[in-house]
Amino acid sequence: MRLSLILPLIQAAVATRPFLNEPDTGIEDVLGDTPAGSLPDLKQIVGLPDFDWAARHYLNGSSYTYYRNGAAGEWSYRNNLEAYGRFRFRPRMMVDVTNIESTLSTSILGYNFSAPFYISPCARAGLAHSDAEKNFVKAAYEEDILYIPSLYASLSVDEIAAAKPTNGTQTIFQQVYLNSNDTATKELFDHAEQLGSKAIVFTVDSAATGNRQRASRYGVGSANTDYTYITWDYYKKLQSFTKLPVVLKGIQSVEDVKLAIEHGAPAVILSNHGGRQLDSTPSPLEVALEIYEEDPTIFQKIEIYADGGIRYGADVLKLLALGVKAVGLGRPFMFANVYGVDGVKHAIQLLKHEIAIDAANLGVSDLKKIDTSYIKWTNNGWFS
Ligand SMILES: Cc1cc2nc3c(=O)[nH]c(=O)nc-3n(C[C@H](O)[C@H](O)[C@H](O)COP(=O)(O)O)c2cc1C
Ligand SMILES: *[C@@H]1O[C@H](CO)[C@@H](O)[C@H](O)[C@H]1NC(C)=O
Ligand SMILES: *[C@@H]1O[C@H](CO)[C@@H](O)[C@H](O)[C@H]1NC(C)=O
Ligand SMILES: *[C@@H]1O[C@H](CO)[C@@H](O)[C@H](O)[C@H]1NC(C)=O
Ligand SMILES: *[C@@H]1O[C@H](CO)[C@@H](O)[C@H](O)[C@H]1NC(C)=O
Repeated sequence: MRLSLILPLIQAAVATRPFLNEPDTGIEDVLGDTPAGSLPDLKQIVGLPDFDWAARHYLNGSSYTYYRNGAAGEWSYRNNLEAYGRFRFRPRMMVDVTNIESTLSTSILGYNFSAPFYISPCARAGLAHSDAEKNFVKAAYEEDILYIPSLYASLSVDEIAAAKPTNGTQTIFQQVYLNSNDTATKELFDHAEQLGSKAIVFTVDSAATGNRQRASRYGVGSANTDYTYITWDYYKKLQSFTKLPVVLKGIQSVEDVKLAIEHGAPAVILSNHGGRQLDSTPSPLEVALEIYEEDPTIFQKIEIYADGGIRYGADVLKLLALGVKAVGLGRPFMFANVYGVDGVKHAIQLLKHEIAIDAANLGVSDLKKIDTSYIKWTNNGWFS
């Protein structure tokens, strides 16, 4: 058969391939009769996708949809989840991996944490739990990981700072959206610094409102409808407003990583906002690969973090292998928050454990030494 005849058939098959929000690992069989509006026992939550299932059964339609939503046809939302499965590991055997757990710790902008992942900034934690963002502050503290609260949190920056279990010893960074009111921006930066934030995380991927169709049906689409002034000159000005490092969140090409280095950024976060802003934007894994293919030394010139679609320890390993320093998760923690602080801690513990056992099975003895030789970087995955 000529290729021109086969191609439409392949495309039709791909178009009708069903997408599973969570892969079927038996949760429906075991917990399927959980009544709507109630939660299964936290002990029965065995992986991060289970929290999505639990939250869907527990929250009302509008709250769940606000968290779950992606932009437009949600192709980027789905691609974020599927991208990791396209690349196979190259596991090595006969390696002493018995010390792997002690190698999970990392530093982020010079601050030490117990694991190379953090809680990404997400608005409106109060939809899942009455203690809202306090649960993230406490769980992050107890598990010794980084939390980056959103400026659009349910609680104020003061309430979030006051939830820190100790005065001053917990490192958090403050995410911001900015308009062009420089007075308000300076006040916000000063206030965040006074409250003990160690960095500003400036979200640059939302120059306009996101096309959020699923959310619009429930009246929970994006609140901000303005076009926002975000340029490199503006970034230089922001840096002069504060002593804190200003991290850029939402970088999606190697060109912009190079510009971030030129403009003195201390770090960037590769992110398409969980597929919530612009559909057809790349997964952070694809962007990290683009950077690596252009010049692997870029990962030494600037700290690079990444978020989007991470649900398993194995996903984390693939990003770290390319040189990503730490990874963020949004929805899994928002969904875990239906269980309050215990749920968020359970999510953190599950992911720490998965990173350790997956690294061990991959034949990695020291997580800091993982590199691209552990992955086959040709796309021969389960997903096309
Ligand atoms: C409910 C929700 C709210 C979010 N709010 C913000 C926000 O206020 N600021 C921001 O920079 N990113 C926000 N994000 C994006 C996250 O920081 C992160 O980039 C994304 O959730 C990562 O994808 P994941 O959910 O697949 O882990 C939000 C994401 C979700 C799911
Ligand atoms: C952070 O970790 C590094 C490497 O393990 C260590 O040398 C340093 O002293 C630690 N810093 C703090 C403040 O604990
Ligand atoms: C859904 O739950 C949220 C949070 O409890 C609440 O604010 C909202 O009014 C509820 N929406 C509906 C339609 O019941
Ligand atoms: C933390 O302690 C310092 C010094 O004791 C004090 O000035 C500051 O107000 C305290 N901050 C909070 C948030 O309690
Ligand atoms: C800018 O912010 C300041 C401080 O919050 C406020 O007083 C002022 O009214 C704002 N200016 C405009 C044009 O909104």
